[in-house]
Formats: sequence, structure tokens, C-alpha cells
Amino acid sequence: MKLWGGRFQKETDSLVNDFNSSIQFDGRMYKEDIMGSLAHAAMLGHRGIISPEDAAAIDKGLREVLADIESGRAELTSDNEDIHMNVETLLTAKIGDAGKRLHTARSRNDQVAVDLRLYLRHEIAAIKGEILDLQGAILEQARQHQNTVMPGYTHLQRAQPISFAQHLLAYGAMLCRDVGRLEDCGRRMNECPLGSGALAGTTYPIDRWETARALGFDRPMGNSLDGVSDRDYAIELLSALSTLMMHLSRFSEEIILWCSWEFKFIELDDGYSTGSSIMPQKKNPDVAELVRGKTGRVYGDLMSLLTAMKGLPLAYNKDMQEDKEPVFDAVDTVKMCLPVFAGMLRTMKVLPENMRAAAGRGFINATDCADYLTKKGMPFRDAYTVTGRLVAQCAAQGRTLEELTLVELREVSPLFGEDVYEALKLENCMALRSSYGGPAVEETSRQIRELEEFIKEHQA
Ligand code: ARG
Repeated sequence: MKLWGGRFQKETDSLVNDFNSSIQFDGRMYKEDIMGSLAHAAMLGHRGIISPEDAAAIDKGLREVLADIESGRAELTSDNEDIHMNVETLLTAKIGDAGKRLHTARSRNDQVAVDLRLYLRHEIAAIKGEILDLQGAILEQARQHQNTVMPGYTHLQRAQPISFAQHLLAYGAMLCRDVGRLEDCGRRMNECPLGSGALAGTTYPIDRWETARALGFDRPMGNSLDGVSDRDYAIELLSALSTLMMHLSRFSEEIILWCSWEFKFIELDDGYSTGSSIMPQKKNPDVAELVRGKTGRVYGDLMSLLTAMKGLPLAYNKDMQEDKEPVFDAVDTVKMCLPVFAGMLRTMKVLPENMRAAAGRGFINATDCADYLTKKGMPFRDAYTVTGRLVAQCAAQGRTLEELTLVELREVSPLFGEDVYEALKLENCMALRSSYGGPAVEETSRQIRELEEFIKEHQA
């Protein structure tokens, strides 16, 4: 017989039972559900809504149920629809009538809302920890490659010289914002819906501040309808995770390019590559490809939740049970991607000679050539045109700017002197880009220091 048996003359059809049930996926919130119930029961006892004896029996019983679930002694079944009813049923089987008093002044609507917030709170902390570790992996590589010159790209065309450290540290900076978004979302999430009841609060003299505090929330949510209807926190989280995955996906795309024979800037460790079942020579960047692929899946999770919510009248609607699978899927996916990505970065071999060779072709010192003339007094726009002419000449002859003789250079401008060759050296082009945020070693050192501090500050 169902909990709502009083009102019904017939058993739920077995098809409906399966359709309605969420225990297969909300079972993972058993601990949070029990934490919420422990706080609720304690408060009911303190406020005299249930007797101290019942409160004590519920407390003891819930702790036993927790141990039973964790040890596998208790089974969660779809006969009990969801985690809330499973726990209540297990509790009542253990302690009898006192168990039936637990749900006084509460609804599954505020219960599920509190469970999910509690669950996501520790998932946010875990994901944050993994991002910080990935930033650690970035730092390990960046420290070693502050002087490794590589071509920086725009439009995937060689543009200006940078260091590999500078490139990696760009991802370090993106990940700082991802951490910030998660923390921000976690802060906003940290209000307690418990005590909102089904939607309209309750006539019992509950103390919502007590339960909020006991569960580590900053305060109770201020409106009971909002308390049970709000899923913004899950949407915000999925949106933050989507942005994080977008960053990892861009990084993956670059890793995939870099380890191709066309670039060969890096080589992935054997432990982080896979072979082909037919082509003996293959070494594939599957990890990076999967991270890129799984990004779409996290976006999909965000879209399904946004879409599930968009037409719902206040307050609770069963549609909202559809929130959990996308949220869990996104969280699980991100938690899988981050450590494997960090491992891939830590173990990859960087090939500085190949980066340097690529930097040597493609005229990435052309801006420096124009800047050289500008510093000698030519207006930048003219210097740009003169350099453009030199580039066209070199391209036609298969030469580089620094291979032109001084005589040839002086043919286009008398401002060229012997010192132009120093100005065109890629190492110098990079080293002189010491403007704030630039690739010069003093600036990548600053970025490294700041990232180290960020990691320290944000570690729990
Ligand atoms: N399993 C439900 C969910 O995840 C719990 C809330 C059910 N409330 C209700 N009124 N049917 O949303």
C-alpha cells in the first residue's frame, strides 16, 4: 500500500509505478535526505511539535538507516518511489509510530529541494578541488616553459611570438573564473528551503532558522513558494559547468592539434593515448577528444533543465523530478574529465624545438619589424605598409625577414640599421613584450606567482 493509500481505492498501475519512480537516480542523495531529516526531527522536538522521546527515537533510527544503506543491509526499492519515501519507510519499519511523525510540518517538495542543495554543495567543493589540481598541472608545465618560444595564433594563422607558458597560463586564468563562478553559485545556493512545506509553509510553530543553521545554510529562504519552486541554483551550476567544459574543450582542441604530425608541438604520454585496431602507427588523443565530446553532453544537461523549467507554474510540479538526471550527469561528467585532463597535461612531453621551428616560419616578427621602424620615427601605418611589402617579397622568395640583407632592407627604408636583426630575433620579440599580461618572462613569472596564490587561497 502506498503512503497516500487513504485517498485511493486502487493500487498504482505497475507501469505508472516504474514511470513515476525516481529512486534509481535520487537514491544517491540518501545521506543528504537523512541529514535533512535529522535536522527537521531535532527541530520538531525542540519546538515541542513532537515529543522528546519520538525525536530521540527518530534520531537513532535515522542513523541506523544510514548505516544500513551504506553497508548494503537496506535496499532502496521503486515500490517506495523516491529516496524520501524509502528512508521514511525504512525508518518506520525500525521504530514504528515515531517514524510516522517525522513528516510532520514537511513535504517532499521542501525535502527534495533541501536534499539537492546539500548534495550539490559538496559536489561543488569536489569539482573546485579538481579544478585547482588542474591549475596545479598547468603551473608545473608553465614553470618549465617560460622561455619556450611558440607561435601565437589568430585565425589559426601564425601571428606573434609567445611562450608556451603564456599560452598555458591563459587556461589557468580561465579556470580561475570557473572557480569563481562555482563559489558564487555555491554562495547563492546556500539558503535553506526546508520549512517551505508543500508550498505554503505550515501552521506548526517550526523554527526555520534552527534547521537552516543545523544544515550549514546561511539562512532560510524567504518565500515558501520560491523555496519549493526554485531550481535556479541547479541551472546556475550547469551553466558554470558548461563554461568550464567549454574551456576544457578549447584546450582539448589545441592538444589534439598540437600532437598531430602537422604541428608536433607535444607528444602525449602512452598512458594517456590510445592505439588503433587497424593502423599500427596510430597514437590517438582520445582523452582530449572525449573531453571535447562530453562538453556537448553537459550543454545538453543545461538545456534540458532550462527547458523543463520554462513553462512551470508555481509551485512544485512533478516535471521538476527531471532536474536530477541532468544535474547528476553534468556533475559526474565534469568530475571524470578534470582529473584525466590534469593527468594528460602532467605527463605530456613538450617539444620546444618544433615550436621554435614553427615560430621561425610565418613572419610572426612582422609586427616587430613595423614597430622597429615606428620607434625610428616612421608613422606606424607607413611602417606597416613597408613591412607588408617586405613580407610579400620574402614569401615570394621563400625567405624570412631576418634573412634579408641590410642592403635589401634599406632599399625600402633608410631607417633600417644593423640593430634590426636583434629586433627581429624571436626570442627578443617575445622577451620585449613585457607589457602587463604579456609573454615576457617577468610577466609570466607574475602570472605564475598569482596563480600559485590563487590555488592556495581557494583550497579548502
Ligand atoms: N521525487 C520527487 C522529485 O524529485 C520528490 C518530490 C515529490 N513531490 C510530490 N509532490 N510528488 O521531485
